[in-house]
Amino acid sequence: MITETALTTADLHLLAEAGGLAPSLHNSQPWRFRPTPDLLGLEVHADLTRAVPAADPDGRALHVSIGAALFNLRAAAAHLGREAAVRLLPAGEGTQPCAVLDLSAPARTPRPFGADLYPALARRHSSRQPFTNRDIPEALVADLITAARDEGVTLTMLEEHGVRRVLALTSEAEASIAADVTREAEARRWLRLEPSCDGIPLAALGSHDRDARVPMRNYAGHPPHHTTPAARFEALPQLATLTTHFDRQVDWLRTGQAMERVWLLATVHGLRASVLHQAVEIPETRWRLRDPAEGPAHVQLVLRLGYGPPGTASPRCRVEDVLDPPEG
Ligand SMILES: Cc1cc2nc3c(=O)[nH]c(=O)nc-3n(C[C@H](O)[C@H](O)[C@H](O)COP(=O)(O)O)c2cc1C
Repeated sequence: MITETALTTADLHLLAEAGGLAPSLHNSQPWRFRPTPDLLGLEVHADLTRAVPAADPDGRALHVSIGAALFNLRAAAAHLGREAAVRLLPAGEGTQPCAVLDLSAPARTPRPFGADLYPALARRHSSRQPFTNRDIPEALVADLITAARDEGVTLTMLEEHGVRRVLALTSEAEASIAADVTREAEARRWLRLEPSCDGIPLAALGSHDRDARVPMRNYAGHPPHHTTPAARFEALPQLATLTTHFDRQVDWLRTGQAMERVWLLATVHGLRASVLHQAVEIPETRWRLRDPAEGPAHVQLVLRLGYGPPGTASPRCRVEDVLDPPEG
């Protein structure tokens, strides 16, 4: 059945606000949402003025971020009682829009993702604080794996040797990123202190692992010699990789959707998460992240999951800055 009920201004606002809550590299928020001329759908475009070229020369992380925003739009569409029929890259790789959502039909099922993920959109934050040593229950891990698989992406919870390998590669990549003046300057531009549409309030983010158990990115803006109050990170972090068989734009968009779906489901179940992206940003360490036993998989993202403080909200662009007005 087709409702053909046009999206109202309030619907468009709710959708764009939901999309804008997605995680993105350095909180760059590289997306724009454009209502289709018939007001029955939404196009998702890359905002290339918000690209992060030194850290992300191929636009891989940009597409992962846009994929996350796209998943939020799908969760918001379900909240509005609409089915979201998504076409990724309808005009092919390297073109815009990145995705088109047809929202003309009513939802076939009230909870297309099992749990109601919409309320988790505003509660999901990156938590870079130490987590406890509590294990994630196996049944929940299985649900997270299924959530990623439904988006065409493989989530693998790493065993101890895999965790140690990934942490070592992350530290190695972090050192080479820290030595790269251009990348450092770029990160500082995005992660600046002013509470603007662009910036993360640095003081609210980041913490250092004094035992170097978790090489968290220094988003706190402290000089390297700074010591924070004793904060012990979990003995063995619970890390998951998201991998895809190929490494095209469409795989990056799928990864972003899988990451956000997993992260929201985790949030519903009281889990916290943060991204460890350094080793994926450097081609050499990214190559070595691959687990030879897994076959020819491309590692797209490393997620740290666990129980701990929720993290704090970071600033977002205003809806009117990411939502194009309807045509005509
Ligand atoms: C592709 C990608 C890479 C990211 N890399 C890192 C990272 O290396 N370290 C980190 O702490 N957060 C990382 N993040 C999380 C962003 O910094 C975070 O989503 C953004 O600052 C917004 O904050 P929020 O997640 O609390 O909404 C990454 C997010 C994405 C989508």
